Amino acid sequence: MNAISRLATVISLASLFPLSALAADSKGSVEVVHWWTSGGEKAAVDVLKAQVEKDGFTWKDGAVAGGGGSTAMTVLKSRAVAGNPPGVAQIKGPDIQEWGSTGLLSTDTLKDVAKAENWDGLLSPKVANTVKYEGDYVAVPVNIHRVNWLWINPAVFKKAGIDKAPTTLEEFYAAGDKLKAAGFIALAHGGQPWQDSTVFEDVVLSVMGPEGYKKALVDLDQKTLSGPEMAKAFTELKKITGYMDPNRAGRDWNIAAADVIGGKAGMQMMGDWAKSEWTAAKKVAGKDYQCVPFPGTDKAFTYNIDSLAVFKLKADRKGDIAAQQDLAKVALGKDFQKVFSINKGSIPVRTDMLNDMSAEGFDSCAQASAKDFLADEKTGGLQPSMAHNMATSLAVQGAIFDVVTNFMNDKDADPAKASACLLYTSPSPRD
Ligand code: GAL
Repeated sequence: MNAISRLATVISLASLFPLSALAADSKGSVEVVHWWTSGGEKAAVDVLKAQVEKDGFTWKDGAVAGGGGSTAMTVLKSRAVAGNPPGVAQIKGPDIQEWGSTGLLSTDTLKDVAKAENWDGLLSPKVANTVKYEGDYVAVPVNIHRVNWLWINPAVFKKAGIDKAPTTLEEFYAAGDKLKAAGFIALAHGGQPWQDSTVFEDVVLSVMGPEGYKKALVDLDQKTLSGPEMAKAFTELKKITGYMDPNRAGRDWNIAAADVIGGKAGMQMMGDWAKSEWTAAKKVAGKDYQCVPFPGTDKAFTYNIDSLAVFKLKADRKGDIAAQQDLAKVALGKDFQKVFSINKGSIPVRTDMLNDMSAEGFDSCAQASAKDFLADEKTGGLQPSMAHNMATSLAVQGAIFDVVTNFMNDKDADPAKASACLLYTSPSPRD
């Protein structure tokens, strides 16, 4: 059974259960399920909460801890099965289409807001299509993250005798050797499947380029998935794993980020939500830390669009529907787009803002990100992140995660065998 029908079967059971209405206050309330729970991320989501509350609605926080969101997705599915989905939930990429096909997302709620606020004019088609189901907006996109970043503590680099950020894998390994020799953790990392695959997809991008990345991890082309270039990517992944701290199992990404911020480690491979931790620690981009594309990926941009999907509510819950609409309107407004992304480490989704980032007061990392996003859109360098739910169904992603994490945790694992295993992650590529 494919992932859509599996989800649909589970959801159809929901009809056996009564809908438990959320207690609404006079103006209406909205419960938001999300996984923005690190210090920096909480600061970002609090901006949305404050604005919705200022508009007179009640915000019910449905935060579910766990980076990458797999725990949040499990909670969301069981709530849907119990007939008690929240008003709004963080859902991304092709998963939005799967939820759309269950009939649980509303295709009406956002219609008027999207029209009045001209969402079609504000968003690039790539972004708009991600959050539409059969032509209707079912989610509001809040920001764009770039995944293929390397975060560097320059003070640690200096102590280890490294004078510049690495731009090739060879330079990366040379920097890693120096950091290790000087007693630092070379590469901070948390051993969780989504973090392992964040590193893996960077390496695939570096070794195979954006075209190879697309063939392998987006189109799921069987030959490319199991071919010699993929085996090479696994060989490099093995080398990179050797620069990670051996006690990394289960560590959250923000704890790994804290090791770099606090000077225990030299580098971290992580999407730019990592910047939210640097910002929360009052560190300045370009001075206290450096953000550079992961070596070999400077002509590419793996994107991760955070979006908030809107669930269908009974028509008599007018106040709660108004709260969903208010949240959506706020989320794409200029003020929110700016303050949220500055806190979150991302860039806005609005093309007018992406084209004018210096006027908006964004730092050097965000300005570089917006410039590359726009440039890479034209060259094919802009690719959806597999590790962050943008490229495949969650079922295929889960199968890839297993291969990658098993490989990284087995020092005797064979790169050619691992790439052969990828072949079985997806017998029928998604269309
Ligand atoms: C991503 C999400 C980001 C950030 C990160 C770490 O999937 O898009 O916004 O939350 O996980 O949890």
